[in-house]
Amino acid sequence: MAMFKRWKIRTLTVLFCILTFTTFLCSYTLRDPSFYFFKYAFRLSDNFFSKGACACRHCMTEADDDPWFTERFNQSFHPLLSKRNSLLTEDTYRWWQWLQAERHPANFSDVVDRLFQLIPGEDRYVDAGPERCRTCAVVGNSGNLKDSRYGSLIDSSDFIIRMNQAPTQGFEVDVGSRTTHHVMYPESAVDLDNTTSLVLIPFKTLDLEWIISALTTGYITHTYLPVMSRIQANKDRVLIYSPSFFKYVHEAWLDSHGRYPSTGFLTLIFAMHICDQVSVYGFGADQYGNWHHYWEENHLAGAFRHTGVHDGDYEYNVTLLLADKHKIKLFKGG
Ligand SMILES: *[C@@H]1O[C@H](CO)[C@@H](O)[C@H](O)[C@H]1NC(C)=O
Ligand SMILES: *[C@@H]1O[C@H](CO)[C@@H](O)[C@H](O)[C@H]1NC(C)=O
Ligand SMILES: *[C@@H]1O[C@H](CO)[C@@H](O)[C@H](O)[C@H]1NC(C)=O
Ligand SMILES: *[C@@H]1O[C@H](CO)[C@@H](O)[C@H](O)[C@H]1NC(C)=O
Repeated sequence: MAMFKRWKIRTLTVLFCILTFTTFLCSYTLRDPSFYFFKYAFRLSDNFFSKGACACRHCMTEADDDPWFTERFNQSFHPLLSKRNSLLTEDTYRWWQWLQAERHPANFSDVVDRLFQLIPGEDRYVDAGPERCRTCAVVGNSGNLKDSRYGSLIDSSDFIIRMNQAPTQGFEVDVGSRTTHHVMYPESAVDLDNTTSLVLIPFKTLDLEWIISALTTGYITHTYLPVMSRIQANKDRVLIYSPSFFKYVHEAWLDSHGRYPSTGFLTLIFAMHICDQVSVYGFGADQYGNWHHYWEENHLAGAFRHTGVHDGDYEYNVTLLLADKHKIKLFKGG
C-alpha cells in the first residue's frame, strides 16, 4: 500500500515537472527561440557556478560551506551602526565600554542621536544577492607590500579599503592609488579626499563625540592622546563601525583571544560581510620575518605586532585558515 502510494506521488511529480518545463520552454521558444534558449542555458550555468549566492565566480557564502566557517560567519550582525540598529544590548555596551575603560561616558543614545543628525544613518551594503558581484581589496600596512607591484591589481577592485596612517602617494606602484574606504579611530586619523568613506572604529563614547566635533567646530583636541581637532572628510560618506559587530568579531572569529582585535582584523571581517570576493594585501610580516609599515625604511622602528593588546599570531592563523578555505585570497607580497 505504502509502496503504491509512493509510486503514485513520484509519477505525479514527474508528470507535473514535464508539464511545467514544456509549458515554460514553449512559451519562450514561440517568442524568440534562440535568444530565450541561450538566455536560459546561461542562467542555468551561472547558477551552477555561483550557486545563486552572488554573481561572482566565488561568493562569500556557498551552499557547501564547511562547518568551521558557518559556525563563525553570522550574517545577522551588521558591520555598520545605523539609526535602526543603534540600540546596544546591555552586555554589548558593557563590553565595549570596558575596551578603553572610559571614566565618565556621555549618554550613548544621546550622542548617537546627535551623530545621525550630522551623518547618514541608513543601513548600507545589505544588498547581497544573486545579482551582486562586489570585489574588495583589503590593504594592510605591512612592509611585505614593498616592491610587490600590486598597485594595479588593488586598484581594479570595486572597493579598496585602507586603514590608519596608510599613505598612497609615492607608493602607487605597490599599493595602488584609489581608496573607497579608510578605516581609522581618533588617535590614528588622517585627512581624506571627498570621494573616500571614512569608517570610524569607536572604542568609547568619546570617539563618537570626536567625529561630531572633528566634522564641525573642533572642540575635542584630546582623548587619552592628542587627536586631530578637525578632519577633512566628506560627512555624507562617514560610516561608523558597529560596537555589536566589534564584539562579534572578537568572540566568533578570535574566540576572545587578545584584549580586542586589531584594526586589520576588524577590517578583514568587515570586508567579508560587505563584499562577495575579498583579496587581502599587506598582512603579516615581510619576507625577512620583520613587522613594520611599508612606508617606513627602518624595519625595527616600525615594529607593531607586540603591542600586548592584540593576539597577532592568533589573528594571522585565522587569516591563513580563511585563505585555505578559499574565503579570502591572500597576497603575501615580495
Ligand atoms: C547569529 O547571531 C544571532 C544574533 O546574535 C543569533 O541569534 C544566532 O543564533 C546566530 N546564528 C548562528 C548561526 O550562530
Ligand atoms: C540616556 O538618555 C535617554 C534620554 O535621551 C534616557 O532615556 C536614558 O535613560 C539615558 N541613559 C542613561 C544610561 O543615562
Ligand atoms: C564633496 O561632496 C559633497 C557631496 O557628497 C559636495 O556637496 C561637496 O561640495 C564636495 N566638496 C568638495 C570640496 O568637492
Ligand atoms: C597557529 O597555528 C600553528 C599551526 O597550526 C600552531 O602551532 C600555533 O599554536 C597557532 N598559534 C596560535 C596563537 O594559535
